[in-house]
Amino acid sequence: MSSIEKMLAYNRQWSEQIRQENPGYLETIAADQQPEILWIGCSDSRVGPDQLIGLPMGSIFVHRNVANIFATNDLNCLAVLEYAVDELKVPNIVVCGHYGCGGIKAALEHSGVQPVDLWLDQVRFVRNRYSAELDQLPIAERANRLAERNVESQVYNICRNTIIREAWKRGQEVNVIGVIYDIHDGLLKQLGLEFRSQQDWERHDRRTHPRPSHTTPHMLRVE
Ligand code: CO
Repeated sequence: MSSIEKMLAYNRQWSEQIRQENPGYLETIAADQQPEILWIGCSDSRVGPDQLIGLPMGSIFVHRNVANIFATNDLNCLAVLEYAVDELKVPNIVVCGHYGCGGIKAALEHSGVQPVDLWLDQVRFVRNRYSAELDQLPIAERANRLAERNVESQVYNICRNTIIREAWKRGQEVNVIGVIYDIHDGLLKQLGLEFRSQQDWERHDRRTHPRPSHTTPHMLRVE
């Protein structure tokens, strides 16, 4: 049996089973979706959220791309965030990275001009920002530390975004957290990042990106 045949056969069996065991369930969730989580993860085939966090259908609104990037200039990312926050009112946003990420490893190598290289330039910004820390690590640890720093940076990109700032301003519940996954033991680890309000975020942002005393106007500041 080919993979496609197996896929379709499994699906027929699953559909029959779920309708027998739980009549009306699919009709109920067909009517509406009220996901609890917006999941931004890597496209890696081993780190899908469904098995990792065990929530029922209809719980997770998913966006995945190579190296779990939230790119502020990417219409796809922005559309997902806007729809999740403004329309679906999803209360939790989870950025999930993973150790052993091929995209992160590639970002530590030279950039080319293929689409994936250009996409990974966003991880290279992160690498450059933390180069002092990364360069002193043994090579074997560098990619995994960059994977953690990349999750943090994508969380920051989300918290800086107007969609989230406006939601917080109007009092909407939105918690943004960063986690990383290790395929070796299947465990998610929270990276000490959790932002529930504009105040939470600003307190952290001031601590990690202190402003110079001769303040440059905010709009002109180069980070
Ligand atoms: Co990956």
